[in-house]
Amino acid sequence: MYVILDKKDYARGTIVNIRIEAPEIAKKCSPGQFVVIRVNETGERIPLTIADNDPLAGTVTLVFQIVGKTTALLASRNVGDFIMDVVGPLGKPVEMKKYNKKILTVGGGTGVAVLHHIAKGYYEAGNEIISIIGSRTKSYLIMEEEMKRISTEMHITTDDGTYGFHGFVTQVMDMILSERGDDIEFVVAIGPVVMMKACCDITKRHNKKTIVSLNPIMVDGTGMCGACRVQVGGETKFACVHGPQFDGHLVDFDLLIKRQRTYIEDERISLFRSIK
Ligand code: FAD
Ligand code: FES
Repeated sequence: MYVILDKKDYARGTIVNIRIEAPEIAKKCSPGQFVVIRVNETGERIPLTIADNDPLAGTVTLVFQIVGKTTALLASRNVGDFIMDVVGPLGKPVEMKKYNKKILTVGGGTGVAVLHHIAKGYYEAGNEIISIIGSRTKSYLIMEEEMKRISTEMHITTDDGTYGFHGFVTQVMDMILSERGDDIEFVVAIGPVVMMKACCDITKRHNKKTIVSLNPIMVDGTGMCGACRVQVGGETKFACVHGPQFDGHLVDFDLLIKRQRTYIEDERISLFRSIK
């Protein structure tokens, strides 16, 4: 049982940040890793990225968007409530070391939470971070303060212009790479699949390596079931054990989008039944 110690909402309650007591995971986890949680004994298992950890306090932070039955159930839990299972850390940690040039980190929507732990890891390894974070409107922007703390330069975008640059993260990224691409070691782009695909189309043009984080449907999270198959560089990989971070220039994003939609009708029915 894992107790919820803190809880805050963003984006009019549609995105939730919880800090839970999980001392073993907090000690062992590295940036890029995730956990699989089950809220109660009849609940489904879902993967969530570790957005932050505090090994001394023995806590991990999870940030999730309410998109269906399990995320809605998790959001209904409050401070002092328990989550039945939290399994992890899972997935391959991102290699952390000091690079000669700056690292450009780009996050969209809830992807900013996934990006944060990785960007913080690079920062703590002594790197200079340029960040671009965006959302569709100001109230949906998350973890601005946390990203500011680890960035030497920070850009904000909103699709509707309510905050920061009026437009997409991809536009600012393209401008930075055009003006000072030589100062950038590589790009980390994390967000909706369409955003990561668009980022990779641009960074290919600039010949700049790009790390993305893939979120196919996962079942066991340990490489046993094959549910999280993705195509990377023409090879089949399991995102839960070979990733979830991959070289974005090698990822077949169209296949990922197709596979993510496999159970869309069942998910809709399941959510409808749970709120009826
Ligand atoms: P459902 O109605 O069941 O599904 C809604 C959509 O969520 C589906 O169409 C599908 O795209 C996705 N989804 C559903 N079940 C799964 C599953 N078992 N595995 C993966 N995706 C699923 N979301 C966040 O908000 N924050 C995170 O930090 C985060 N980290 C993730 C890390 C990884 C490695 C992966 C694979 C996914 C991550 N996700 C994250 C997505 C999150 O797991 C899904 O939003 C969640 O499973 C939805 O469950 P649901 O029952 O609420 O919705
Ligand atoms: Fe089963 Fe990755 S979730 S192999």
